[in-house]
Amino acid sequence: MTSDSRYATYPSLRDAVVLVSGGASGLGAEFVRQFAAQGARVGFVDVAVEAGEALVEAVAGDGHPRPLFRRCDVRDLDAYRGVIAEIAAELGDIRVLVNNAGHDERHSVATVEPKYWDELMRVNLDHQFFAAQAVAPAMRAARHGSIINMGSISAHVDLLDLPAYMTAKAGIEGLTRSLSREFGPDGVRVNCVLPGWIMTPRQLENWVTPEADAHRSAAQALPQRLEPADVARLVLWLAADDSRSCTGQHWVVDGGWMHS
Ligand SMILES: NC(=O)c1ccc[n+]([C@@H]2O[C@H](COP(=O)([O-])OP(=O)(O)OC[C@H]3O[C@@H](n4cnc5c(N)ncnc54)[C@H](O)[C@@H]3O)[C@@H](O)[C@H]2O)c1
Repeated sequence: MTSDSRYATYPSLRDAVVLVSGGASGLGAEFVRQFAAQGARVGFVDVAVEAGEALVEAVAGDGHPRPLFRRCDVRDLDAYRGVIAEIAAELGDIRVLVNNAGHDERHSVATVEPKYWDELMRVNLDHQFFAAQAVAPAMRAARHGSIINMGSISAHVDLLDLPAYMTAKAGIEGLTRSLSREFGPDGVRVNCVLPGWIMTPRQLENWVTPEADAHRSAAQALPQRLEPADVARLVLWLAADDSRSCTGQHWVVDGGWMHS
């Protein structure tokens, strides 16, 4: 649901250059679709080549600007820096960065080894800092930019078997606060989005059992299932100039699960 006339169109996103990490599937793919439907020039990175290439064709086939896909493992920070530079050279200076790539693999406290812990920080946290560092100079020079970091309500609600993931997600909120102060004087905004449980294909396949879904429904004030498009519309608003005075915050889209 990308060009639904019930929802907003943002003139400030037309022709804006947007970078999405982990954009080939799940929430990231919906961000790619919705930014392209706004007329933005979207670059995205992912390790899932087939899904990435299929998404490019689907978006272009819908008549939207053709996104630029580059295979990149965001854990390889040097490679990622290089790819960010390539995307900017091809599309123009990046005005919106959506730090979205992540992995919520379950892990019990007793089994976590230092290498695994490190791995989860690399896939969920480290790249968000280094991507922001890479795009910031051009945003600051233009005095215009929006960085959106994907956190999670899991850093605020009681869940088991995700200690490293939840630590990384909590760290993203501190990162958001810190970068918003650093970049704010130059007109660059940094916000964090905390999704609740969103029904991406991977969640539906791996984790959505009738019992878990009943728990979700009871925990939320709005019992409905949340879709990737619900998160994408918040991300669009944070990227657009409509939110020009909002920075350093976390924004929750969880159907009313988390209590702040
Ligand atoms: N779906 C949810 O319920 C939910 C809830 C809270 C937060 N989030 C957050 O939203 C973001 C997206 O989640 P999702 O549910 O769409 O996940 P997903 O697993 O469906 O998609 C993640 C994408 O990132 C890519 N990716 C994974 N590791 C990568 C790497 N090393 N380099 C490059 N790409 C990589 C994957 O290939 C995939 O395309 C994550 O940051 C996640 O923590 C999701």
